[in-house]
Amino acid sequence: MNVLVINSSPHLDKGNTAHVLNPFVEGMKEAGAEVEILYPRKMKIMPCEGCFDCWLKTPGVCRHRDDMAAALPKLAQSEVWVFATPVYVDGMTGTMKMFLDRIIPGAQPFFELRDGHNRHPRRDGAKEGGKVVLVSSCGFWEIDNFDPLVHHITAYCKNANREFAGALLRPHAGSLPALIQAGRAGEVITAAIDAGRQLVKEGKIAETTLQTVARELLPMEMYMKVTNTYFHQTLDANTGKKT
Ligand SMILES: Cc1cc2nc3c(=O)[nH]c(=O)nc-3n(C[C@H](O)[C@H](O)[C@H](O)COP(=O)(O)O)c2cc1C
Repeated sequence: MNVLVINSSPHLDKGNTAHVLNPFVEGMKEAGAEVEILYPRKMKIMPCEGCFDCWLKTPGVCRHRDDMAAALPKLAQSEVWVFATPVYVDGMTGTMKMFLDRIIPGAQPFFELRDGHNRHPRRDGAKEGGKVVLVSSCGFWEIDNFDPLVHHITAYCKNANREFAGALLRPHAGSLPALIQAGRAGEVITAAIDAGRQLVKEGKIAETTLQTVARELLPMEMYMKVTNTYFHQTLDANTGKKT
């Protein structure tokens, strides 16, 4: 199984999102998957101009000459796409969205009906039955901070004719690095590894596994207190003023 991961966290493989993504990738590899990770932050990706040249003038080829030219065939050849993004302003990062916008050369302009809905036929021969997994982390405590992002990716999967295979979501992720260091997040990391194994071996991820990845790590009041203390101390030290 070929897996293409797009990790759009500006913190690359060291961020909160990567703390969940890395064990997930480990599990997929252990189960035999070939995994490649792209980091939009390191790539040259111009924003889509909306010119439709890639549909109507130079079919399948974008007018921009940048790193998306090499990424498009990789997408077409991968059965699983993993979109990894921290929650930014209740959605995905700008770099993730720029990447996704630039996938449209892989579709043809024509309208067709799929499940009673207007869609575009694919041009790039992307593998049938392809899956998408979302991996995300967010700073706020509540799990519902992921709702708009999950909704977006679910809609995208219908649009792109790919199966949404689940979301590894890590709320109150600000606490994750410290809790990992303290050995108190082992269950979350193990569940992320299991999710990778399950996806490759069984073609799906158990709901209970996803729930463990997202499970409460500490009570909200405590998380707010710890976080605010850190912000006060850092701000005071950086500015020399007491907040
Ligand atoms: C520009 C920006 C916008 C953010 N917006 C949200 C938000 O709307 N909701 C939320 O819970 N966290 C938000 N966060 C916090 C990040 O989602 C959180 O710190 C995440 O774990 C960072 O992941 P990373 O270390 O992989 O980059 C935002 C952070 C930044 C920098």
